[in-house]
This record gives sequence, C-alpha cells and structure tokens, in this order.
Amino acid sequence: MSKHEEIKQMFHRYVMPTYAPKLALVRGQGTRVWDPDGKTYLDFIAGIAVLNVGHSHPRVVDAIREQAGRLIHVSNLYYTENQARLARKLSDVGLGGKCFFGNSGAEANEGLIKLARLWGHAENRYEIVCMKNSFHGRTLATAAATGQSKVQKGFDPMPEGFRHADFNDIGSVRALVNEKTVAVLLEAVQGEGGILPADPVFMRDIRALCDEKNLLMLCDEVQCGMGRTGRWFGYQAYDAVPDAFSVAKALGSGYPIGALVAGEKLSDVFQPGNHASTFGGTPLACAAALATMETIEEEGLIERARTVGATFAKRLRGLADGRDHVVDVRGRGFMLGIVLNRPAQDICARLAENGLLTLATAENVVRMLPPLNVTDEELDQAFAILDRWL
Ligand SMILES: Cc1ncc(COP(=O)(O)O)c(C=O)c1O
Repeated sequence: MSKHEEIKQMFHRYVMPTYAPKLALVRGQGTRVWDPDGKTYLDFIAGIAVLNVGHSHPRVVDAIREQAGRLIHVSNLYYTENQARLARKLSDVGLGGKCFFGNSGAEANEGLIKLARLWGHAENRYEIVCMKNSFHGRTLATAAATGQSKVQKGFDPMPEGFRHADFNDIGSVRALVNEKTVAVLLEAVQGEGGILPADPVFMRDIRALCDEKNLLMLCDEVQCGMGRTGRWFGYQAYDAVPDAFSVAKALGSGYPIGALVAGEKLSDVFQPGNHASTFGGTPLACAAALATMETIEEEGLIERARTVGATFAKRLRGLADGRDHVVDVRGRGFMLGIVLNRPAQDICARLAENGLLTLATAENVVRMLPPLNVTDEELDQAFAILDRWL
C-alpha cells in the first residue's frame, strides 16, 4: 500500500469525518506543498488564509524553535513579555486599545460577543445584528452569529440574541435594531460567503448607525485580516473604524492563536474573572505571532498584497473572455474569488489534479488565498494552470 493510501485509511478509521479531504500533504515551503508521493502543488489556499507569510517561513520557524526551548507555557497567572509585546503591536496597527488572546477565530469572536454583552449588560442590551451569508465560527454562539443556516442545522435550539440583516443593505440593518441591540458584527470582506467585499457606503453607514444608537461596531477580521486584503485589517480600506475586532488564522502562521483587539472605549470592560483561556497568548504562540507580524512588515507584504493582488485580479478578469462559465472576478488584495455560473467543486478538483490548490466556496466561487509573498513566477504558473483548466 502506498504511503498516501496508508495515511488515508488510518484517517478514515480514526478521525471523525467533519471534513472530506482528498489529498495528504507532508511538507510545505513558501507557496509549495508536497504530497507523500513527492508531487508538488502551488498552495493557493494557504491553510485557508493562515499562511500569509508562506509555509515554514524561516523567521517563524526560528522564533518557534527558540521560544520552545526557553518557555512554552506558564498560564495567564503570570506576566509574560511576548504577550505584552504582541498586544502592543496589534494595538499599534489596530485600534490603540488593549487585546485579549485565545486560540482560534471562533474563540476570538466568542470573546467579541461576550465583551459586547458585558458592555451592554446594565441596560439589558445583548442582541447583535449580524449579516446574512457571514461566517463567524462553529461554537454554538459563533454558529448562531453566522448567517448561514447550514452551519446551524441540527444543533437547535441555538443561543438567542443574534439577528441577521442583508449584507450591504443599511435599511435591513436598521430595521433589526431595537432596545435590546448592543452591537453590529460584520466582515469587511465576507470570506466563506463567497469573497464579497462590503460597500464603502455601507461600512460608513454602519459606523454612523452605531454612533446614533450607541451600538458597538464589531469586525470579524479572522479571514480578511493580517495583510490579506492589502491593509493590516480589511476595515482599514474603509472610512469606518470599529470599536473592536477579532483576528486569528494568519496571526500565528499556523501556530494556533486568536485575539480580540479593542479600542480604548472597550479596553477595560473585562475585569478579572470575566473571561479567560488557559492557552490564550502563551509565550510560544506570541513568539510565532510576533515573528509573523515582523515578517509581514519587513518584507512589505501588505503593499505587495495590495498592488500585486490587484494586478493578478486584472489578469484573472481576462479569463472571462471566451469562457461563458466565468461571470466575475472579485475580492481585494490576495483574497480573490472567480465566480462561475456553475458549481466550483469539480473545477477546483481539476485544478488540484494539475498542480494548483484552490477552494470552492459559496457553491460557485473558486476562492484563492495565496501566501502574500507568492512570487511573480508562481503567479505566472498558477495563471497558466487556470488558463488551461478553468
Ligand atoms: C471570517 C471568519 N470568522 C471566523 C472563523 C472561524 O475561525 P476558526 O476556524 O479558527 O475558529 C472563520 C473560519 O473560516 C472565518 O473565516
């Protein structure tokens, strides 16, 4: 039996089938990954927007190795320098306030939800207006916040306190605001929903509505953050600053870490005993995240995502010529979607067979999230595969 087959069989026997993988991978470097038979692929999924600095970036690997040999974990009962330094860095590029650390996107969003509820508690305000088509995670509260019924199906009763408005329709958001509303939660670019950017006017109107009704504006930056859209955070392309946002995925380059980043207004709402996480912000996780953020800065990856991502998107638009099944190319930076008039699954499988890993999303969108340091040559290779097989 081949190594590939052996891994697959053991997986099917012992791992719950929540995902349906087709391919085993054993190694990654930059934008390339290898399967057990030695075949290589261009990884334009990047761990679903996790590997913004590429697979096994030497700087991140060194930081993890060095920190692992010194201090991995002590709990949050003690001060650790890395956590303070990472919080300062996120605050500097974010909202100027304070951070709370967890381990995943869902946990970061759960933190946002709890923070908003605690902030509104004295006035008995707890409802959060979320968007249809959004994705916020798989815990019960974040699944309830998610605006896709397929995520909730079979798990009812869902926690109460979440309502869903139409994305990019301020009238629909306003109609759901009542005396119990405490916040509005949205993604600047919906990822799982099909790479759908928020309208600039909509984002501005959300901020104005939150100011008018004394609501918190909360952004989920889990997928569109960390430089992916050509800004540190997706909301920064807009004339609207949220009160707090969540970040995870690319923050630790694959080492699990998530954070909730708040502006000054919300910096001291959580007090001892209100919220906690054993593994939140360990010295090791924070070392990985600090190395990631320094790499993004020093290699100019935000600028690269913005400029090279826009050029690549323009090239992709050319693919629509002569292909009736390609109806649109949308997104920001290196968060791109090719919209088809048919299911994307088969086409993604064909692209993978021919060496390019992409991800079908929202049924008919071929999603591409390459590392932000993908080379020009790798972009040419990916384009050639798309040109031949799309
Ligand atoms: C926008 C967004 N929020 C939250 C999550 C959940 O993150 P995690 O899987 O790390 O819990 C995801 C995951 O895809 C996401 O795309």
